[in-house]
Amino acid sequence: MNYIGSKYSLLDFLQETIEGVTGYKTGDPYVFADLFAGTGIVGRTFKQNGCSVIANDIQHYSFSLNKHFIENVPEMDDSLLEHFNSLEPRKGFVYMNYCSGSGSGRNYFSDENGMRCDAVRMELEELRSKGEIDEGTYFYYLASLIDSIDRYANTASVYGAFLKKIKNTAKRPFFLELLPVIVGKKGKVYNEDINELVKRISGDVLYLDPPYNTRQYCANYHVLETISRYDAPELSGVTGLRDLSRQKSRFCSKKRALEALDDLIRNADFSYIFLSYNNEGILKLDSIKEIMSRYGDYSFFTREYRRFKADKDANRNIAADSTTEYLHCLKKG
Ligand SMILES: C[S@@+](CC[C@H](N)C(=O)[O-])C[C@H]1O[C@@H](n2cnc3c(N)ncnc32)[C@H](O)[C@@H]1O
Repeated sequence: MNYIGSKYSLLDFLQETIEGVTGYKTGDPYVFADLFAGTGIVGRTFKQNGCSVIANDIQHYSFSLNKHFIENVPEMDDSLLEHFNSLEPRKGFVYMNYCSGSGSGRNYFSDENGMRCDAVRMELEELRSKGEIDEGTYFYYLASLIDSIDRYANTASVYGAFLKKIKNTAKRPFFLELLPVIVGKKGKVYNEDINELVKRISGDVLYLDPPYNTRQYCANYHVLETISRYDAPELSGVTGLRDLSRQKSRFCSKKRALEALDDLIRNADFSYIFLSYNNEGILKLDSIKEIMSRYGDYSFFTREYRRFKADKDANRNIAADSTTEYLHCLKKG
């Protein structure tokens, strides 16, 4: 998934630094927590490397992706794929609210693809409520639906706005494709505010990848959130936002991020903590250093990083094509 802040291109840097600082090697069975998990790419990588992974994210679409990547292990039942892809299109919540043919005034998907998405989503819920599929299978197909439908979205990048005309990639008929099943130990996934969850868990390595700026993920990915929850929320405004009041992150607030970080590090019962952040985020290098140093031995490593393409929007006044990624490290005392 093309996700804001995804660490896909920084995986080598993360693995090398974490191994260098902790002395743990690939294959060592330590507990690795990825608690701002997003797409799940970091936790997936450490699961593959032999870790017991705990993943968490406040967004439900991320929870669904991680339920599959972290909790499912081979062999999963892929025999329903053909069934899902041959369902009759249905006029459900996605078509009625995110497609223009329904009169919603919104154009996030072509009419046909919105109805195909509804057909898969409704069938999945029906199979689960009848007890015909178990939880693992449910999240296997739900995660695959979220990942697949995102590739047919009629947006410039995120769901903050839709395009007026249906673009070519959004015109292609939607087909569900299955995500890979990650080999490794079955982990544990949560869908909570990190500052609450951290008080109840413990482990060896805590990896933190909070939002870097004031743009809330709940607003940028609200359509995926609703497809994941499928809870028929009341939508408002031209872009059809759901109520975001309970999902707003303190890490996106200039006033509250510092206090939230301090609370998080203080309550974390982990031997090592690693925090990804860049040189343009709302928290300054010195403030992070100051907070982390309160709790043990602190160091940091850097890597140049090419900017996510949505950041190039004309109305954002940032000139450079690359940013400096920091990995802040703490050995808790
Ligand atoms: C920079 S992204 C993580 C990207 C992820 N490492 C990846 O590679 O895909 C930050 C994530 O933190 C989540 N988040 C923000 N505030 C949170 C909070 N208070 N508790 C839990 N998750 C939160 C967002 O939903 C978002 O998915």
